[in-house]
Amino acid sequence: MFLKIENLTKSYNTNDITTSVLNGIEMNLDKGEIGAILGPSGSGKSTLINIIGGIDRCDSGIVLVNGIEVNKLNDNKLTDYRRENIGFIFQFYNLIPNLTVGENIEVVSNISKSPLNIDEVLKAVNMIDKKHRFPKELSGGEQQRVSIARAIVKNPKLLLCDEPTGALDFSTSREILKLLQRINKDYGTTILMITHNTPISAMANRIYKIRSGKIVESIVNKTMIPAERIEW
Ligand SMILES: Nc1ncnc2c1ncn2[C@@H]1O[C@H](COP(=O)(O)OP(=O)(O)O)[C@@H](O)[C@H]1O
Ligand SMILES: [Mg+2]
Repeated sequence: MFLKIENLTKSYNTNDITTSVLNGIEMNLDKGEIGAILGPSGSGKSTLINIIGGIDRCDSGIVLVNGIEVNKLNDNKLTDYRRENIGFIFQFYNLIPNLTVGENIEVVSNISKSPLNIDEVLKAVNMIDKKHRFPKELSGGEQQRVSIARAIVKNPKLLLCDEPTGALDFSTSREILKLLQRINKDYGTTILMITHNTPISAMANRIYKIRSGKIVESIVNKTMIPAERIEW
């Protein structure tokens, strides 16, 4: 199993009040698969993938990614883990505004062990023509394509996407989902994607439904469909 989560818990303390956000999450995902996490706002989706990606820590439980027991890593090792294994895509792109498209990708490529060629990934996301543009000169869909290029340039083993189409219209969303599906196929990248849009989960091998920090349903999707056929 490429990704395995057992009895994961997480709570936050604010002003002496403890809120438990994840209450015993169990999950499995094989190498090369696409997983989709569905659930209402506030159910713990972002907290869960931030812990998987090593940008947050759990209170208890096991997070196993590609043979690495993430929950046991110290801060330095966690940074290495993130750098070497994980690509992140967020709803609001998070590009660096005063760097060009090419430079935004270079920042990540420079700190990666065995990065892909920058022009190759820009071609893969169909943004090579805009390599010297700045983020503000791009549409939302184009910015998301750049953020995908930035996430895949390090050739990550696991691509984590937090509502990657949340800020995009339907047809642009479809283009982004097609692109993610192509990256999964061409590079064999395992993808775990959060969405609050149920139809999008049809393109996933596994669908996890989360409510109040618990996986209430975990489905193996045998009738996976290509992104271009998603209707919503
Ligand atoms: N850093 C934090 N400090 C305190 N509470 C937090 C923090 N991050 C998230 N929460 C709380 O945890 C719950 C789940 O948040 P989140 O994982 O972002 O949910 P989702 O992504 O499903 O909308 C929410 O109630 C949120 O307010
Ligand atoms: Mg969220």
